[in-house]
Amino acid sequence: MPSVRIASSVPKSATAVDVPVSTGAVSKLPAARKAAAKRQGFEGKTGQTLVLAGGEGKQIEVLVGIGPADELTPAKLRKAAAAFARAVSKHESVATNLVANADELDPSEAVAAVAEGLRLSSYRYNQLRSDSSRKKNEVKLKTVSIIASGKGLRAELNRTNAIVDAVELARDLVNEPGGSLTPQAFVAAAKKATADIDVKLTVWNLARIKRERLGGLLAVNQGSEHPPQFLQLHYKPAKGRPQAKVALVGKGITFDSGGLSLKTSVGMMTMKIDMAGAAAVLATMITLPAVKAPVEVTAYIPLTDNMTGPDAQRPGDVFTARNGKTVEVLNTDAEGRLVLADALSLAAEKKPDAIIDIATLTGSVTAALGTGYAGLMGTDDHLIAEVLAASEATEEKVWHLPLPDEYRKTLDSVIADVKNIGSTPYGGALTAGLFLKEFVDEVPWAHIDLGMSAMSDQDNGIITKGGTGF
Ligand code: BES
Ligand code: MN
Ligand code: ZN
Repeated sequence: MPSVRIASSVPKSATAVDVPVSTGAVSKLPAARKAAAKRQGFEGKTGQTLVLAGGEGKQIEVLVGIGPADELTPAKLRKAAAAFARAVSKHESVATNLVANADELDPSEAVAAVAEGLRLSSYRYNQLRSDSSRKKNEVKLKTVSIIASGKGLRAELNRTNAIVDAVELARDLVNEPGGSLTPQAFVAAAKKATADIDVKLTVWNLARIKRERLGGLLAVNQGSEHPPQFLQLHYKPAKGRPQAKVALVGKGITFDSGGLSLKTSVGMMTMKIDMAGAAAVLATMITLPAVKAPVEVTAYIPLTDNMTGPDAQRPGDVFTARNGKTVEVLNTDAEGRLVLADALSLAAEKKPDAIIDIATLTGSVTAALGTGYAGLMGTDDHLIAEVLAASEATEEKVWHLPLPDEYRKTLDSVIADVKNIGSTPYGGALTAGLFLKEFVDEVPWAHIDLGMSAMSDQDNGIITKGGTGF
């Protein structure tokens, strides 16, 4: 995977360089290039590329579309950079003019967008391949020079690199098979990732989890060979009073078989991704020192797999959650909300200014929105607006869904305080959200249901096949 640097001119070592072309500029290209563009249907649309042969001993030139000249945004630059990186993935050293060409944008924002596009599109999960198959799938890019000048660009690049490193970690964890990424392995990865940075890590083992009465995590873990783990991470700004205290909660089901309410074989095929929320939270935590986040953040990550061992919880079993509520488990495949219940309670007890959870919680959210959107629910308009703004900036799309009070009665249980599934097959993402709401008290709370957006079956812009690192 390439390392990205800032350079004032195209280095001699570069074997390919891009030529950014807006939709309006195709007709103004030199005759030979214009003819090639015409022949190949290159119109300068954002993310279109056309590889042109270089002359003897000269760099290869790649036309890269950036869309209408007066509508350039960091998002479009990110997409264009991703397309360029894909077009030159078999080169070792290349250079890009995307930032130099975008003089109407803030240079720092442009550098960040281009670096993200270059690196994220070049991500591959090759750990489990043997040599020849790895070679075939490998990205050869070693160095990409972003041609740019200006103040603070190297600092911006360092910041972006820290963020991309974290996204890569999240993707790695999502891509790792459930049989090897046990709760213990997840904790080991978290220890390694936080070893040299100012993020404090605390792990609760089975005995502590029992003492802390995390009934939901224990209930789900009953069918497992691996003891549960409860991971907490904490970050505080190095200087000054934090502007706010935030809690992050991530669903860490390292594999979801459904439990005794067993999934189908097709339904199970992707269920190693069921810790994508936990991966996103861990990844977020490790970027906080690098971006000097001005807020104090505590992360709560419940970890277990959801299996069918001899003492697995039975449909109809009742457990008591950390906050004292009793829960009737009518479907053991609705397990995410059970482990999140305790984590949300723990978070709420500390009375932070906001709680945000992120979870591959339902298939329903994907039935509603498709794979390109995560569902967003919550109790606080201001917090929702902030998540929507973050979604806009990162192009990780979320859609605000309701939590209708009148649906709450669908969770009424005959023998306990609440049951873990609704009475109808409809609106499953909303019933899951309403279930979680039982555990957050009065703390402003937002819930991101990733569904299938945690994984992609296609290479598309900065997204590569497999874990998306959403
Ligand atoms: N992990 C799944 C949700 C899921 C399914 C995420 C597919 C991504 C892709 C979750 O634990 C689950 O099984 N949810 C059930 C809930 C149902 C039993 C009420 C679902 O959505 O089908
Ligand atoms: Mn499930
Ligand atoms: Zn699940």
